[in-house]
Amino acid sequence: MAEPQDDRFRLEPDQALIVAERFGTPAYVVGEAHFRTRIRRYRAAFQAAYADSELTFASKANSTLALIAIAHQEGCLIDTASEGEFRAALAAGVPASRCHLHGNNKSVEELAFAMGQGIGQIVVDHFDEIDAIVALSDRRACPELVLRLAPGVDPVTHAKISTGQADTKFGFNIADGSAEEATKRCLQKGLPLAGFHCHVGSQLLDPEAQISGGQLVAEFAARMARDHGFQSSILNVGGGLGIRYTDRDVPMSVEDYCAELVAAIQEALRGSGLRPRLVQEPGRSLIGESGVTLYRVGVRKMVPAKGGSRTYLSVDGGLSDNPRPALYGAKYPVERVSPASGGPEAVFTVSGKHCETDRLFEDVSLPEGTGRGDLLQVLCTGAYNSSMASNYNRYPRPTTVLLSESGEFEVVQRPETWDEMFARESIPGRLRREAVGAGN
Ligand code: LLP
Repeated sequence: MAEPQDDRFRLEPDQALIVAERFGTPAYVVGEAHFRTRIRRYRAAFQAAYADSELTFASKANSTLALIAIAHQEGCLIDTASEGEFRAALAAGVPASRCHLHGNNKSVEELAFAMGQGIGQIVVDHFDEIDAIVALSDRRACPELVLRLAPGVDPVTHAKISTGQADTKFGFNIADGSAEEATKRCLQKGLPLAGFHCHVGSQLLDPEAQISGGQLVAEFAARMARDHGFQSSILNVGGGLGIRYTDRDVPMSVEDYCAELVAAIQEALRGSGLRPRLVQEPGRSLIGESGVTLYRVGVRKMVPAKGGSRTYLSVDGGLSDNPRPALYGAKYPVERVSPASGGPEAVFTVSGKHCETDRLFEDVSLPEGTGRGDLLQVLCTGAYNSSMASNYNRYPRPTTVLLSESGEFEVVQRPETWDEMFARESIPGRLRREAVGAGN
Protein backbone atom coordinates (compact mmCIF):
# COMPACT_ATOMS: atom_id res chain seq x y z
CA MET A 1 0.00 0.00 0.00
CA ALA A 2 1.31 3.46 -0.87
CA GLU A 3 2.35 5.64 2.07
CA PRO A 4 -0.27 8.29 2.72
CA GLN A 5 1.01 11.70 1.69
CA ASP A 6 2.36 13.76 4.56
CA ASP A 7 0.50 17.04 4.22
CA ARG A 8 0.65 18.10 7.87
CA PHE A 9 1.43 21.79 8.22
CA ARG A 10 5.05 22.58 9.09
CA LEU A 11 7.34 25.60 8.99
CA GLU A 12 10.34 25.93 6.72
CA PRO A 13 13.63 26.82 8.47
CA ASP A 14 13.56 30.47 7.33
CA GLN A 15 9.96 30.83 8.50
CA ALA A 16 10.79 29.33 11.90
CA LEU A 17 13.62 31.83 12.32
CA ILE A 18 11.30 34.73 11.49
CA VAL A 19 8.67 33.55 13.99
CA ALA A 20 11.20 32.99 16.76
CA GLU A 21 12.93 36.31 16.22
CA ARG A 22 9.80 38.40 15.77
CA PHE A 23 7.39 36.81 18.20
CA GLY A 24 9.51 34.68 20.54
CA THR A 25 9.06 31.10 21.65
CA PRO A 26 7.15 29.09 22.52
CA ALA A 27 4.71 30.03 19.79
CA TYR A 28 1.74 28.29 18.28
CA VAL A 29 1.75 28.79 14.52
CA VAL A 30 -1.30 28.00 12.39
CA GLY A 31 -1.31 27.70 8.60
CA GLU A 32 -4.38 29.53 7.33
CA ALA A 33 -4.30 27.96 3.87
CA HIS A 34 -3.92 24.52 5.46
CA PHE A 35 -6.91 25.06 7.76
CA ARG A 36 -9.06 26.39 4.92
CA THR A 37 -8.10 23.43 2.74
CA ARG A 38 -9.02 20.95 5.47
CA ILE A 39 -12.44 22.54 5.90
CA ARG A 40 -13.07 22.66 2.15
CA ARG A 41 -12.07 19.05 1.71
CA TYR A 42 -14.30 17.88 4.57
CA ARG A 43 -17.26 19.91 3.31
CA ALA A 44 -16.81 18.67 -0.24
CA ALA A 45 -16.54 15.05 0.91
CA PHE A 46 -19.66 15.33 3.04
CA GLN A 47 -21.56 17.10 0.28
CA ALA A 48 -20.53 14.48 -2.27
CA ALA A 49 -21.86 11.76 0.03
CA TYR A 50 -25.07 13.59 0.92
CA ALA A 51 -26.26 16.83 -0.64
CA ASP A 52 -28.22 18.16 2.32
CA SER A 53 -25.29 18.22 4.70
CA GLU A 54 -23.73 20.80 6.97
CA LEU A 55 -20.37 21.05 8.70
CA THR A 56 -19.93 22.52 12.16
CA PHE A 57 -16.54 23.46 13.62
CA ALA A 58 -16.19 22.17 17.19
CA SER A 59 -14.56 25.28 18.60
CA LYS A 60 -13.38 23.52 21.77
CA ALA A 61 -10.52 22.21 19.61
CA ASN A 62 -9.24 25.76 19.18
CA SER A 63 -11.35 28.78 19.99
CA THR A 64 -8.82 31.44 19.01
CA LEU A 65 -11.07 34.15 17.56
CA ALA A 66 -9.30 34.41 14.20
CA LEU A 67 -9.66 30.67 13.68
CA ILE A 68 -13.35 30.71 14.52
CA ALA A 69 -13.67 33.58 12.01
CA ILE A 70 -11.96 31.48 9.32
CA ALA A 71 -14.24 28.52 9.99
CA HIS A 72 -17.23 30.83 9.77
CA GLN A 73 -15.97 32.38 6.50
CA GLU A 74 -15.59 28.88 5.10
CA GLY A 75 -19.28 28.24 5.75
CA CYS A 76 -19.09 26.21 8.96
CA LEU A 77 -21.57 26.48 11.77
CA ILE A 78 -19.84 26.91 15.13
CA ASP A 79 -20.30 24.35 17.92
CA THR A 80 -19.79 25.92 21.31
CA ALA A 81 -19.63 23.86 24.49
CA SER A 82 -19.97 26.67 27.02
CA GLU A 83 -21.05 30.27 27.38
CA GLY A 84 -17.38 31.19 27.03
CA GLU A 85 -17.03 29.48 23.67
CA PHE A 86 -20.31 31.00 22.54
CA ARG A 87 -19.06 34.44 23.56
CA ALA A 88 -15.84 33.71 21.64
CA ALA A 89 -17.86 32.95 18.52
CA LEU A 90 -19.82 36.18 18.93
CA ALA A 91 -16.58 38.09 19.48
CA ALA A 92 -15.25 36.52 16.27
CA GLY A 93 -18.18 38.04 14.39
CA VAL A 94 -20.25 34.90 14.01
CA PRO A 95 -24.00 35.59 14.15
CA ALA A 96 -25.63 33.82 17.10
CA SER A 97 -27.93 32.10 14.63
CA ARG A 98 -24.88 30.22 13.22
CA CYS A 99 -23.92 28.83 16.65
CA HIS A 100 -24.94 25.72 18.55
CA LEU A 101 -24.75 25.36 22.32
CA HIS A 102 -23.69 22.09 23.91
CA GLY A 103 -23.10 21.09 27.51
CA ASN A 104 -24.13 18.33 29.89
CA ASN A 105 -24.82 20.70 32.78
CA LYS A 106 -25.84 24.03 31.31
CA SER A 107 -26.86 26.60 33.88
CA VAL A 108 -30.11 28.52 33.58
CA GLU A 109 -27.97 31.66 33.17
CA GLU A 110 -26.09 30.12 30.24
CA LEU A 111 -29.33 29.06 28.59
CA ALA A 112 -30.88 32.48 29.18
CA PHE A 113 -27.83 34.23 27.71
CA ALA A 114 -27.76 31.97 24.65
CA MET A 115 -31.49 32.30 24.01
CA GLY A 116 -31.38 36.04 24.61
CA GLN A 117 -28.65 36.37 21.98
CA GLY A 118 -30.69 34.32 19.50
CA ILE A 119 -28.54 31.18 19.38
CA GLY A 120 -29.33 29.00 16.39
CA GLN A 121 -29.59 25.68 18.16
CA ILE A 122 -29.37 24.15 21.60
CA VAL A 123 -28.26 20.55 21.94
CA VAL A 124 -30.31 19.40 24.92
CA ASP A 125 -28.69 16.99 27.32
CA HIS A 126 -31.09 16.43 30.25
CA PHE A 127 -34.72 16.64 31.37
CA ASP A 128 -33.89 19.57 33.67
CA GLU A 129 -32.75 21.46 30.62
CA ILE A 130 -36.05 20.83 28.83
CA ASP A 131 -37.86 22.31 31.83
CA ALA A 132 -35.51 25.29 31.98
CA ILE A 133 -35.98 25.97 28.27
CA VAL A 134 -39.77 25.80 28.65
CA ALA A 135 -39.58 28.32 31.51
CA LEU A 136 -37.25 30.64 29.60
CA SER A 137 -39.34 30.43 26.43
CA ASP A 138 -42.03 32.55 28.11
CA ARG A 139 -39.86 35.60 27.59
CA ARG A 140 -37.48 34.60 24.81
CA ALA A 141 -37.82 32.96 21.43
CA CYS A 142 -37.04 29.26 21.71
CA PRO A 143 -34.31 28.16 19.30
CA GLU A 144 -34.29 24.95 17.35
CA LEU A 145 -33.63 22.04 19.72
CA VAL A 146 -31.79 18.81 19.10
CA LEU A 147 -31.61 16.02 21.70
CA ARG A 148 -28.20 14.58 22.45
CA LEU A 149 -28.49 10.82 22.56
CA ALA A 150 -26.24 8.26 24.19
CA PRO A 151 -26.49 5.55 21.57
CA GLY A 152 -24.68 2.94 23.68
CA VAL A 153 -21.53 2.62 21.62
CA ASP A 154 -18.19 2.28 23.32
CA PRO A 155 -15.49 3.43 20.93
CA VAL A 156 -12.75 1.55 22.76
CA THR A 157 -14.34 -1.83 23.26
CA HIS A 158 -16.89 -1.51 20.55
CA ALA A 159 -15.78 -4.46 18.47
CA LYS A 160 -16.02 -6.82 21.42
CA ILE A 161 -18.99 -5.57 23.41
CA SER A 162 -22.07 -5.10 21.35
CA THR A 163 -24.20 -3.56 24.09
CA GLY A 164 -21.60 -0.86 24.51
CA GLN A 165 -21.31 2.08 26.80
CA ALA A 166 -24.46 3.26 28.52
CA ASP A 167 -22.44 4.75 31.37
CA THR A 168 -21.89 8.35 30.25
CA LYS A 169 -22.75 11.75 31.67
CA PHE A 170 -23.77 12.96 28.21
CA GLY A 171 -27.18 12.81 26.65
CA PHE A 172 -30.30 10.73 26.83
CA ASN A 173 -29.83 7.00 26.87
CA ILE A 174 -31.59 5.18 24.05
CA ALA A 175 -31.56 1.77 25.72
CA ASP A 176 -33.23 2.76 29.01
CA GLY A 177 -36.04 4.70 27.35
CA SER A 178 -34.82 8.18 28.40
CA ALA A 179 -34.35 9.32 24.81
CA GLU A 180 -37.92 8.39 23.87
CA GLU A 181 -39.21 10.02 27.05
CA ALA A 182 -37.33 13.23 26.26
CA THR A 183 -38.70 13.25 22.71
CA LYS A 184 -42.25 12.88 24.02
CA ARG A 185 -41.70 15.60 26.62
CA CYS A 186 -40.50 18.06 23.94
CA LEU A 187 -43.46 17.23 21.70
CA GLN A 188 -45.97 17.56 24.56
CA LYS A 189 -44.53 20.93 25.51
CA GLY A 190 -44.73 22.10 21.90
CA LEU A 191 -40.97 22.80 21.75
CA PRO A 192 -39.30 23.24 18.34
CA LEU A 193 -37.57 19.87 18.36
CA ALA A 194 -35.68 19.37 15.10
CA GLY A 195 -33.87 16.09 15.58
CA PHE A 196 -31.11 14.18 17.30
CA HIS A 197 -27.40 14.26 17.97
CA CYS A 198 -24.66 11.89 19.06
CA HIS A 199 -20.91 12.05 19.52
CA VAL A 200 -19.20 8.82 20.50
CA GLY A 201 -15.54 9.76 20.91
CA SER A 202 -12.48 11.58 19.67
CA GLN A 203 -9.27 10.75 17.75
CA LEU A 204 -10.96 7.64 16.41
CA LEU A 205 -8.81 5.98 13.78
CA ASP A 206 -11.25 3.16 13.24
CA PRO A 207 -14.54 4.99 12.65
CA GLU A 208 -16.66 1.89 13.28
CA ALA A 209 -18.00 3.40 16.51
CA GLN A 210 -19.06 6.68 14.90
CA ILE A 211 -20.71 4.83 12.05
CA SER A 212 -22.59 2.62 14.52
CA GLY A 213 -23.53 5.70 16.54
CA GLY A 214 -24.92 7.39 13.42
CA GLN A 215 -26.80 4.25 12.51
CA LEU A 216 -28.35 3.91 15.99
CA VAL A 217 -29.39 7.56 16.05
CA ALA A 218 -30.95 7.20 12.59
CA GLU A 219 -32.79 4.06 13.70
CA PHE A 220 -34.04 5.94 16.72
CA ALA A 221 -35.25 8.81 14.53
CA ALA A 222 -37.06 6.30 12.32
CA ARG A 223 -38.72 4.77 15.39
CA MET A 224 -39.80 8.21 16.66
CA ALA A 225 -41.37 8.88 13.24
CA ARG A 226 -43.22 5.57 13.32
CA ASP A 227 -44.33 5.60 16.96
CA HIS A 228 -44.88 9.31 17.61
CA GLY A 229 -45.19 10.87 14.17
CA PHE A 230 -42.11 12.99 14.83
CA GLN A 231 -40.33 13.93 11.61
CA SER A 232 -36.63 14.61 12.32
CA SER A 233 -35.25 17.27 10.07
CA ILE A 234 -31.73 17.14 11.55
CA LEU A 235 -29.39 14.31 12.49
CA ASN A 236 -26.01 15.36 13.86
CA VAL A 237 -23.43 12.62 14.27
CA GLY A 238 -20.77 14.67 16.07
CA GLY A 239 -17.06 14.74 15.32
CA GLY A 240 -14.28 12.39 16.26
CA LEU A 241 -12.36 11.52 13.10
CA GLY A 242 -8.71 10.98 14.05
CA ILE A 243 -5.64 12.65 12.61
CA ARG A 244 -2.09 11.57 11.84
CA TYR A 245 -0.22 12.55 14.98
CA THR A 246 2.49 9.99 14.28
CA ASP A 247 3.10 7.69 11.38
CA ARG A 248 1.40 4.93 13.33
CA ASP A 249 -1.86 6.86 13.26
CA VAL A 250 -3.53 6.17 9.94
CA PRO A 251 -6.98 7.73 9.90
CA MET A 252 -9.53 6.83 7.26
CA SER A 253 -9.67 9.44 4.49
CA VAL A 254 -12.45 11.94 5.02
CA GLU A 255 -13.95 10.95 1.67
CA ASP A 256 -14.22 7.27 2.64
CA TYR A 257 -15.40 8.18 6.12
CA CYS A 258 -18.23 10.41 4.90
CA ALA A 259 -19.29 7.85 2.29
CA GLU A 260 -19.43 5.00 4.85
CA LEU A 261 -21.13 7.09 7.49
CA VAL A 262 -23.81 8.35 5.12
CA ALA A 263 -24.41 4.89 3.66
CA ALA A 264 -25.00 3.48 7.17
CA ILE A 265 -27.39 6.29 8.08
CA GLN A 266 -29.31 6.00 4.81
CA GLU A 267 -29.68 2.28 5.33
CA ALA A 268 -31.08 2.89 8.81
CA LEU A 269 -33.51 5.50 7.49
CA ARG A 270 -34.76 3.37 4.60
CA GLY A 271 -38.54 3.11 4.58
CA SER A 272 -38.95 5.75 7.31
CA GLY A 273 -39.85 8.54 4.92
CA LEU A 274 -37.29 10.73 6.70
CA ARG A 275 -34.88 12.82 4.68
CA PRO A 276 -33.13 14.86 7.37
CA ARG A 277 -30.25 17.27 6.99
CA LEU A 278 -27.08 15.51 8.15
CA VAL A 279 -24.60 17.41 10.29
CA GLN A 280 -21.08 16.62 11.50
CA GLU A 281 -19.13 18.68 14.01
CA PRO A 282 -15.44 17.82 13.81
CA GLY A 283 -12.78 19.80 15.64
CA ARG A 284 -9.47 17.96 15.62
CA SER A 285 -9.68 16.73 12.03
CA LEU A 286 -10.18 20.31 10.81
CA ILE A 287 -7.58 22.23 12.84
CA GLY A 288 -5.27 19.62 14.42
CA GLU A 289 -2.82 19.14 11.56
CA SER A 290 -2.87 22.86 10.68
CA GLY A 291 -0.86 23.99 13.70
CA VAL A 292 2.65 23.54 15.08
CA THR A 293 4.34 24.68 18.27
CA LEU A 294 7.76 26.24 17.94
CA TYR A 295 10.14 25.84 20.89
CA ARG A 296 13.73 26.80 21.50
CA VAL A 297 16.09 24.27 23.07
CA GLY A 298 17.88 25.28 26.27
CA VAL A 299 19.63 22.73 28.45
CA ARG A 300 21.01 19.51 26.98
CA LYS A 301 21.78 16.92 29.61
CA MET A 302 22.91 13.31 29.49
CA VAL A 303 22.00 11.11 32.46
CA PRO A 304 22.52 7.43 33.25
CA ALA A 305 19.41 5.46 32.35
CA LYS A 306 18.28 1.87 31.95
CA GLY A 307 20.37 0.30 29.23
CA GLY A 308 22.91 3.16 29.06
CA SER A 309 22.08 6.82 29.03
CA ARG A 310 19.35 9.25 28.17
CA THR A 311 19.84 12.70 26.70
CA TYR A 312 17.31 15.33 27.67
CA LEU A 313 16.71 18.40 25.58
CA SER A 314 14.70 20.90 27.60
CA VAL A 315 12.56 23.30 25.62
CA ASP A 316 11.09 26.63 26.74
CA GLY A 317 7.51 25.41 27.15
CA GLY A 318 5.73 22.14 27.82
CA LEU A 319 2.94 21.09 30.15
CA SER A 320 1.31 24.51 30.28
CA ASP A 321 1.06 24.89 26.49
CA ASN A 322 0.52 21.19 25.72
CA PRO A 323 -0.93 19.08 28.54
CA ARG A 324 -1.89 16.23 26.22
CA PRO A 325 1.21 14.02 26.66
CA ALA A 326 0.78 14.17 30.46
CA LEU A 327 -3.00 13.79 30.34
CA TYR A 328 -3.42 11.18 27.65
CA GLY A 329 0.06 9.86 26.91
CA ALA A 330 -0.30 11.62 23.55
CA LYS A 331 2.58 11.29 21.10
CA TYR A 332 3.67 14.02 18.69
CA PRO A 333 6.17 14.29 15.86
CA VAL A 334 9.06 16.59 16.77
CA GLU A 335 11.41 17.98 14.14
CA ARG A 336 14.45 20.21 14.30
CA VAL A 337 13.60 23.08 12.02
CA SER A 338 16.54 25.41 12.60
CA PRO A 339 19.26 24.62 11.82
CA ALA A 340 17.55 22.50 9.18
CA SER A 341 17.57 18.77 9.87
CA GLY A 342 20.18 16.60 8.17
CA GLY A 343 23.08 14.33 9.01
CA PRO A 344 23.22 11.48 11.50
CA GLU A 345 20.51 11.37 14.14
CA ALA A 346 20.36 10.35 17.77
CA VAL A 347 17.46 9.61 20.11
CA PHE A 348 16.48 12.26 22.66
CA THR A 349 13.89 12.88 25.31
CA VAL A 350 12.45 16.34 24.81
CA SER A 351 11.29 17.70 28.15
CA GLY A 352 9.57 20.88 29.19
CA LYS A 353 10.47 23.59 31.68
CA HIS A 354 7.89 22.67 34.26
CA CYS A 355 8.41 21.34 37.74
CA GLU A 356 7.06 17.97 36.84
CA THR A 357 8.86 14.77 35.97
CA ASP A 358 7.46 15.08 32.51
CA ARG A 359 8.93 13.53 29.48
CA LEU A 360 7.12 15.71 27.06
CA PHE A 361 8.17 13.87 23.92
CA GLU A 362 10.06 10.62 24.35
CA ASP A 363 12.27 8.76 21.90
CA VAL A 364 12.56 11.59 19.43
CA SER A 365 15.07 11.24 16.60
CA LEU A 366 16.88 14.49 15.94
CA PRO A 367 20.21 15.44 14.42
CA GLU A 368 22.80 14.29 16.95
CA GLY A 369 24.27 17.74 17.53
CA THR A 370 20.95 19.31 18.51
CA GLY A 371 21.37 21.63 21.48
CA ARG A 372 21.02 25.08 22.97
CA GLY A 373 19.47 27.70 20.72
CA ASP A 374 18.10 25.27 18.11
CA LEU A 375 14.44 25.49 17.14
CA LEU A 376 12.16 22.48 17.33
CA GLN A 377 8.70 22.32 15.83
CA VAL A 378 6.08 19.95 17.14
CA LEU A 379 3.54 19.06 14.49
CA CYS A 380 -0.21 18.62 14.90
CA THR A 381 -0.72 20.95 17.85
CA GLY A 382 -3.56 22.89 16.23
CA ALA A 383 -6.24 21.12 18.26
CA TYR A 384 -6.62 20.92 22.04
CA ASN A 385 -3.35 22.75 22.80
CA SER A 386 -4.08 26.47 22.87
CA SER A 387 -7.59 25.70 24.11
CA MET A 388 -6.24 23.55 26.96
CA ALA A 389 -3.28 25.74 27.92
CA SER A 390 -2.80 26.74 31.57
CA ASN A 391 -0.59 28.94 33.71
CA TYR A 392 1.00 26.08 35.63
CA ASN A 393 4.24 27.27 37.23
CA ARG A 394 3.05 30.79 36.33
CA TYR A 395 4.07 30.48 32.70
CA PRO A 396 2.27 33.01 30.53
CA ARG A 397 0.24 31.34 27.82
CA PRO A 398 2.00 31.68 24.47
CA THR A 399 1.23 33.65 21.37
CA THR A 400 -0.62 32.28 18.35
CA VAL A 401 0.72 33.39 14.99
CA LEU A 402 -1.22 32.88 11.78
CA LEU A 403 0.67 32.25 8.56
CA SER A 404 -1.67 33.95 6.11
CA GLU A 405 -2.42 32.64 2.65
CA SER A 406 -0.12 35.31 1.22
CA GLY A 407 2.75 34.20 3.46
CA GLU A 408 2.55 36.95 6.11
CA PHE A 409 2.86 36.20 9.81
CA GLU A 410 0.13 37.84 11.87
CA VAL A 411 -0.24 37.63 15.63
CA VAL A 412 -3.80 36.56 16.33
CA GLN A 413 -3.24 36.02 20.04
CA ARG A 414 -0.37 37.79 21.78
CA PRO A 415 1.32 36.13 24.75
CA GLU A 416 -0.11 36.80 28.18
CA THR A 417 1.57 39.64 30.05
CA TRP A 418 2.81 39.56 33.65
CA ASP A 419 0.17 42.16 34.52
CA GLU A 420 -2.55 39.87 33.20
CA MET A 421 -1.05 37.01 35.17
CA PHE A 422 -1.74 38.77 38.47
CA ALA A 423 -4.68 40.99 37.51
CA ARG A 424 -7.33 38.80 39.12
CA GLU A 425 -5.68 38.55 42.49
CA SER A 426 -5.67 40.65 45.63
CA ILE A 427 -3.92 40.35 48.96
CA PRO A 428 -5.97 41.22 52.04
CA GLY A 429 -4.22 43.98 54.00
CA ARG A 430 -3.67 41.78 57.06
CA LEU A 431 -1.47 39.50 54.92
CA ARG A 432 0.79 42.39 54.05
CA ARG A 433 2.18 42.61 57.59
CA GLU A 434 5.84 41.71 58.05
CA ALA A 435 6.60 38.06 58.56
CA VAL A 436 7.27 37.11 62.18
CA GLY A 437 10.97 37.58 62.76
CA ALA A 438 11.51 39.31 59.41
CA GLY A 439 13.63 42.42 59.21
CA ASN A 440 15.47 41.71 62.50
N1 LLP B 1 -18.92 17.32 19.28
C1 LLP B 1 -18.99 17.02 20.58
C2 LLP B 1 -20.29 16.96 21.23
C3 LLP B 1 -17.83 16.77 21.31
O1 LLP B 1 -17.91 16.44 22.58
C4 LLP B 1 -16.57 16.84 20.66
C5 LLP B 1 -15.33 16.61 21.40
C6 LLP B 1 -16.54 17.19 19.29
C7 LLP B 1 -17.75 17.41 18.63
C8 LLP B 1 -15.27 17.33 18.51
O2 LLP B 1 -14.54 16.16 18.51
P1 LLP B 1 -13.23 16.02 17.59
O3 LLP B 1 -13.67 16.03 16.15
O4 LLP B 1 -12.34 17.15 17.88
O5 LLP B 1 -12.65 14.70 17.97
N2 LLP B 1 -9.38 17.19 25.10
C9 LLP B 1 -9.39 15.95 24.34
C10 LLP B 1 -10.52 15.92 23.35
C11 LLP B 1 -11.87 16.05 23.97
C12 LLP B 1 -12.94 16.03 22.94
C13 LLP B 1 -14.26 16.27 23.55
N3 LLP B 1 -15.34 16.36 22.63
C14 LLP B 1 -8.05 15.79 23.63
O6 LLP B 1 -7.18 16.64 23.80
O7 LLP B 1 -7.83 14.81 22.95
